[in-house]
Amino acid sequence: MSNLVIRPRRLRTTPALRRLASEIRVHPAELILPMFVREGDDARPIASMPGVVQHSVDSARRAVVAAAEAGIGGVMLFGVPDVRDATGTGATDPNGILNVATRALVEEIGDSLVVQTDLCLDEFTDHGHCGVLAPDGRVDNDATLLRYQDMALAQARAGSALLGLSGMMDGQVAAVRETLDAAGFEDTAVLAYSAKYASAYYGPFREAVASTLTGNRRTYQLDPANRREGVREAQIDIDEGADIVMVKPAGSYLDVLAEVAAMSPVPVWAYQVSGEYSMIEAAAAQGWIDRRRAVEESVLSIRRAGADAVLTYWAVELATWLNEENA
Ligand code: PBG
Repeated sequence: MSNLVIRPRRLRTTPALRRLASEIRVHPAELILPMFVREGDDARPIASMPGVVQHSVDSARRAVVAAAEAGIGGVMLFGVPDVRDATGTGATDPNGILNVATRALVEEIGDSLVVQTDLCLDEFTDHGHCGVLAPDGRVDNDATLLRYQDMALAQARAGSALLGLSGMMDGQVAAVRETLDAAGFEDTAVLAYSAKYASAYYGPFREAVASTLTGNRRTYQLDPANRREGVREAQIDIDEGADIVMVKPAGSYLDVLAEVAAMSPVPVWAYQVSGEYSMIEAAAAQGWIDRRRAVEESVLSIRRAGADAVLTYWAVELATWLNEENA
């Protein structure tokens, strides 16, 4: 085959050439660590997510310092309250665990990374749904918006710089934006979980936040079959004033991610969720997969599909590896 001119393998010949020909690379600054903070003095392991814990406020303080040292871009906080009720009052109570943890971590870390908060009621309701229920048991969209507005104020007052709206209520971005602006929080940013699918991959998260949900979230989260609808949800959130839009889960929705990345004028993030984490950890623990390579490839693929930043439970470990490689 002496007439073979086109040889793509040329650029794969040596490590140096491969490095130079690499189209994208992951940087610690574009990684965000989701963190769970519980009430009480002791941190607790999460059995279905080996290596991830429910922090106490104190252990969360230490973890956020380590995260900043690793150079990651931010942390996303989830609260795990002891007591829950029908309307999720713990979410709007300034002394509720999420707001307490937010104040503590902002105080601890200042401006060296971005402290962000999950804005959703499911961790705080006794029925486990992301909103309040109407008398007939359905999730009441518009009544929930009022709760989200109060929650946004509580989180902004606690010092959260970026509110992660993960509840999938219609109109949530506009409702929260209006309330923040009216209260003088024009600079508190909104991350819209725009294309959030009703996914089995959230399974381990339910243990992580000790969720009490029975049933499912299919009346508000998206049908995994629907790509067009995911793009539409992103467009609506952009129109409502979202500063960043997100696709979630990540790995099984790279097509949606690529399409949102192609149309969005605002940054597009993706959330590599609990089940994506646990599957790789479980296979690696069995010796069936090379853990580090699988972790790196999974996050790289999410970046390649178009995510500007990635929420991943491996954020700090991955950043540490990247820092070693570039040392
Ligand atoms: C809702 C929320 C969920 C996750 C993040 N925010 C759970 C759900 O919608 O059922 C899942 C994250 C993960 O699985 O890692 N507040």
